[in-house]
Amino acid sequence: MRKKVLVTGGAGFVGSHLVDALVRDGEEVVVLDNLEYQVHEGRLPGYLNPGAKYVFADVTDGEALERALEGCEVVFHEAAAVGVGQSMYQVEKYMRVNAIGTAKLLDLLVNREHDVEKLVVASSMSIYGEGKYECADCGIVYPRLRPREQLAARDWEVKCPTCGLALKPLPTDEGKPLFPTSIYAMSKRDQEEMSLAIGKAYGIPTVALRYFNIYGPRQALSNPYTGVCAIFSCRIRNDNPPVIFEDGLQSRDFVSVQDIVRANLLAMESSGADYRALNVGTGRPTSIGEIAQVLIRLYGKRLKPKVANKYREGDIRHCYADITAISALGFAPQVAFEEGMRELAEWVGLQPECQVADRFEKAQRELERRKLTL
Ligand code: UD1
Repeated sequence: MRKKVLVTGGAGFVGSHLVDALVRDGEEVVVLDNLEYQVHEGRLPGYLNPGAKYVFADVTDGEALERALEGCEVVFHEAAAVGVGQSMYQVEKYMRVNAIGTAKLLDLLVNREHDVEKLVVASSMSIYGEGKYECADCGIVYPRLRPREQLAARDWEVKCPTCGLALKPLPTDEGKPLFPTSIYAMSKRDQEEMSLAIGKAYGIPTVALRYFNIYGPRQALSNPYTGVCAIFSCRIRNDNPPVIFEDGLQSRDFVSVQDIVRANLLAMESSGADYRALNVGTGRPTSIGEIAQVLIRLYGKRLKPKVANKYREGDIRHCYADITAISALGFAPQVAFEEGMRELAEWVGLQPECQVADRFEKAQRELERRKLTL
């Protein structure tokens, strides 16, 4: 049966790929998106799917949201402000867009007549803070951010908070206590918890997908607050070496946007996902140094990454997903790392110069001015 589906943030990176998949599957798709200037720079993205209906308004605009929601049976809530560093000096904006925007949506679901049978919200691995670790003496540990003195001494690996031994990173499961370390992460935690609480209270099946580090075509490139794959891509395409914070051995779980779309479709279809928060990643850690090497190779450049040996405020050392829970519902990442990186590099190679401006140094100066690096 054809469903009517609302995708907030449907002109963005994740949202637009999801819209393509939903239109392909024959659903009736409505998009609510404000075409955020920092992402779209005043341009209408060329990839907007003509099979969807677009409402260009902010997610905090209750009236527009109500109009967009009319008759929708499924809501994918992808609209968000996404710069972790930036959230530390635009505190109100991040809470307004991410937390209050979600609150407005929930208010509509609670106080107005609607047809929504499923709500899927975009959560983030950033709500974990540091990942899960094992200490040879103390067992499983959930460390907080590394102490300042340790970072100042350029001693990068996480130590056991009890005995000081070096720790081994483990896959992080959904049961790990949440220690968000940025305003962005707090706004995402609030969004997730509010959505699940309202969903449960009113019997609206709700799923929070905790995205790990997403990469792929349509990633905002020039936005200096975007993720590391986009930043490195812009640096390399402009013949500048990627700058690696710390020593390059810090790791993340890089997941292709195509797999993120698959997880969303699964969350829509599967009642087993209802009222749960689920990790979406590959279950595989990759170091930032390796990302730099692979991208340099794929762009065919002779550059050497610059290891800054600096700390970016709020950064964690390691976190990769335990995907047991979502795998039990039938999810399996299908894009292999190399293949996904190649797809990203090919797409970046096709972008016009104006869209791959390298704003890294400007953003870096801003972080330094605000003492957000060490
Ligand atoms: C990222 C996203 C966050 C999202 C989360 C999960 C950003 C800014 N952060 O957080 O929104 O919720 O994934 O999907 O989009 N690094 C460098 N050099 C650079 C940039 C980064 O060495 O030029 C390093 C960082 O110090 C860090 C790692 O790369 O160790 C990853 O950084 P980043 O891509 O910003 O991701 P997260 O902080 O994990």
